[in-house]
Amino acid sequence: MKTLSLMISCLALASLFLSGAQSARITFTNKCPNTVWPGTLTADQKPQLSTTGFELASGASTSLDAQAPWIGRFWARTGCTTDTSGRFSCATGDCASGQVACNGNGAIPPASLVEINIAANSGQDFYDVSLVDGFNLPVSVSTEGGNGDCQTSSCPANVNAVCPAELQLKAADGSVIACKSACTALNQPQYCCTGDFSTPETCPPTNYSLIFENQCPQAYSYAYDDVNSTFTCSGAPNYVITFCP
Ligand SMILES: *[C@@H]1O[C@H](CO)[C@@H](O)[C@H](O)[C@H]1NC(C)=O
Ligand SMILES: *[C@@H]1O[C@H](CO)[C@@H](O)[C@H](O)[C@H]1NC(C)=O
Repeated sequence: MKTLSLMISCLALASLFLSGAQSARITFTNKCPNTVWPGTLTADQKPQLSTTGFELASGASTSLDAQAPWIGRFWARTGCTTDTSGRFSCATGDCASGQVACNGNGAIPPASLVEINIAANSGQDFYDVSLVDGFNLPVSVSTEGGNGDCQTSSCPANVNAVCPAELQLKAADGSVIACKSACTALNQPQYCCTGDFSTPETCPPTNYSLIFENQCPQAYSYAYDDVNSTFTCSGAPNYVITFCP
């Protein structure tokens, strides 16, 4: 009896040690012509990653580790400046922290998002590019290693170039710097999939979501986009997120 319970304790300790050791490395690469400021947000009230926001020069790469299981999102802020009072803010993707670190805040739409759900014990991960909160710059997410489908999900197109006037976010000089979702811009149930449109069956694509879908078929274009936009991979040790792939 004693031997059995000792064995069970040893097994529990071993599995704790093994699962605790599992992590995924997430590498960010900026292929955009300008500096971007990536933001990271860990979901479910869990502790945030080692950084929640940082500067990434054009051509630069940096990595951080996420302990599995982990669910969260990544995006890039553009046009960031620090004002005379020391407050940091960005033209797109701002997280309203007043600092380069987002400290648990998410992106204020519009922003292109990479969503990753890393399973415990090398189970099946899910990842996608989402334009449900609009678009600010092209982005892709790919895996290295891992088993299964493990395909790259990319939104390489510049949706800003085809963004209709009513969805445009413009800089002071009039240039289009981001494209809002129809839900954000027009706030109507058929675009937000709320009220009478709150199920996949009652919330079909709209003329607005189709603009995003046509530019980036692999990305989520609205809340109930087809299952097509979710990608899977098991036990991938590395994720690579590229801005302006
Ligand atoms: C989308 O459809 C709405 C409602 O029918 C219309 O008012 C709007 O002009 C259309 N927009 C585009 C970009 O096609
Ligand atoms: C799934 O995506 C492919 C391109 O990646 C597209 O050709 C196909 O129509 C999509 N399927 C659905 C149901 O949208």
